[in-house]
Amino acid sequence: MSTGVTGPGRAAISERTLREDRWWLSPLVTFVVFSAFVVYATWRAFSGEHYYASPYLSPFYSPCLADCVEGASDFGQPFAGWPLSAALIILIFPLGFRMTCYYYRKAYYRAFWLSPPACGVAEPHGGYSGETRLPLILNNLHRWFWYAAVLVALVLSYDTLLAFRNADHEWGHMGLGTVLMLVNVVYIWLYTLSCHSCRHIVGGRMRHFSKHPVRYRAWTLVSRLNTRHAQYAWVSLFSVALVDLYVYLLATGTITDVRFF
Ligand code: FES
Repeated sequence: MSTGVTGPGRAAISERTLREDRWWLSPLVTFVVFSAFVVYATWRAFSGEHYYASPYLSPFYSPCLADCVEGASDFGQPFAGWPLSAALIILIFPLGFRMTCYYYRKAYYRAFWLSPPACGVAEPHGGYSGETRLPLILNNLHRWFWYAAVLVALVLSYDTLLAFRNADHEWGHMGLGTVLMLVNVVYIWLYTLSCHSCRHIVGGRMRHFSKHPVRYRAWTLVSRLNTRHAQYAWVSLFSVALVDLYVYLLATGTITDVRFF
């Protein structure tokens, strides 16, 4: 199949692009930042240690369902005896959600596969099968990952609640870790609720909004959030990594927690 750029009915333009602006900057930044995150997240997810510094649990390891360090497991340990890092049990849900996200798809198709690298720039590939074959056909699972992502967001909200304790698990305390977890969970919810699939789940398949005023209001709210979905995607990616890094630095004794009260 033709790429369309040189297909029948198109002007025969030999240049790869006629754009003269720095169109390559956006995919390049995406490539560098996304690669850095993947390297960091892979290292942390496989390490299997330094993910809990009471009362803070790293979001990469939440919920901790295997042989977790004391205090890190709030939902039992049904995978006790699991030989690998506990993060690998639950990683598929946030990872699958982000990998199948409509915004991230655009970002990594452009930055990693150059397919195409930018608007008005021809891609180097000769064929195009869309998302009709493995592995890209799996991107159609996004809606189902959204349901899992809601559960993950609920668990992270619970973790944030637990962060209003001190290291001895007494309530009514707050540290810098609490603030970071709070900011993170707010952005996780904004990212999750601004999802295109969420917008369809809330307001799709209806003939008359007038007969469903509650769903219409919810759809209006989600639609507003949806305009900033890309921004929430990136900020929540950074905030997850930042909380994990903070927990890592605490757990390794590199820093001590800043306590406010
Ligand atoms: Fe991005 Fe659903 S479209 S999370």
